Amino acid sequence: SPQAGTGREAEREPEPDMQRLASSRRLLRAALAPGRAHSSLSAAAVAAAPENGAGAPKMPPFAYTPPPYDGPRVAEIAQKRAQFLSPSLFHFYDRPLNIVDGKMQYLFDEDGRRYLDAFGGIATVCCGHCHPDVIEAIVNQAKKIQHSTVLYLNHAIADFAEALASKMPGDLKVVFFTNSGTEANELALMIARLYTGSHDIISLRNGYHGNAAATMGATAQSNWKFNVVQTGVHHALNPDPYRGAFGSDGEKYARDIQETIDYGTTGRVAGFISEAIQGVGGIVELAPGYLPAAYDMVRKAGGLCIADEVQAGVARTGSHFWGFEGQGVIPDIVTMAKVSSDSFSTVFIILKEFVHSIICH
Ligand SMILES: Cc1ncc(COP(=O)(O)O)c(C=O)c1O
Repeated sequence: SPQAGTGREAEREPEPDMQRLASSRRLLRAALAPGRAHSSLSAAAVAAAPENGAGAPKMPPFAYTPPPYDGPRVAEIAQKRAQFLSPSLFHFYDRPLNIVDGKMQYLFDEDGRRYLDAFGGIATVCCGHCHPDVIEAIVNQAKKIQHSTVLYLNHAIADFAEALASKMPGDLKVVFFTNSGTEANELALMIARLYTGSHDIISLRNGYHGNAAATMGATAQSNWKFNVVQTGVHHALNPDPYRGAFGSDGEKYARDIQETIDYGTTGRVAGFISEAIQGVGGIVELAPGYLPAAYDMVRKAGGLCIADEVQAGVARTGSHFWGFEGQGVIPDIVTMAKVSSDSFSTVFIILKEFVHSIICH
């Protein structure tokens, strides 16, 4: 068993999957090291920055000072994490940040140093940290009732479902609430399989959809996959307008969907799942014209089209409320997580009315 003060990794040879995670972690550390090409601040500039020193951009004034922090500090937390948490939970930076306070777009560390948060908890915090309206809603609800069950009535879940449906195009009107993006996508994939009676799913290379049985299959990035059975998923060519073979010609990439159907399946498929902008894959937009052509081919093969809006939805693309709207399509199922309740775990899938009956038996 691990002893205090020694990392688990030092004590035994890691399993191959753990080795892979450790090497992803080393890569991330290397990529994020100050002075790398992507970083505009050198190590010296960071050390000399003003909330750190002279030479770095000055932060605008902000009328909030976090209360003094007297909790555990970096070394103690890091040591406890090493002892009690899996090393798969890696952290950024060799000197990790201990974030103890947040206000709107800013984060504060244990010394009260302020940071502009360009990460938003991996695109999860959409209204800023500790937004007073969000806090008030949570406090008011918690004072009334914390949990009952959907077997009794309460207006809140119905009101929220109605509000979500009102933001959707077409007849996307039926909402299911789940607990994570992974779970939302698992449910969507299962519904597509049940509804169509087919098993094959097509997803895109470089896509990310979660880390449970079906969603790990749909995910197509080696560093987020484990060596466990993942059946019935085909990964089509990624319509990446920067690195892809056909540049920005979405329709040419979509031909690979037809070939996947023709050569990799019975000719009938359960569905197609994709992000409108690949988030974990590096903020990759799909080539214009791709989704209309792909949806058309999938529907002709009997499949449902699933839009994973976990990173692109809720106005984060700027031009549209939903990422798929940028490609002018209407999916059959939409999945959502992260920002759907400003980081509090309200996650949902919303589907067309004709589809939902399949799980009402
Ligand atoms: C596009 C996309 N889909 C699904 C997921 C899985 O969501 P969760 O981490 O809530 O399970 C993520 C998580 O990053 C994601 O980016």
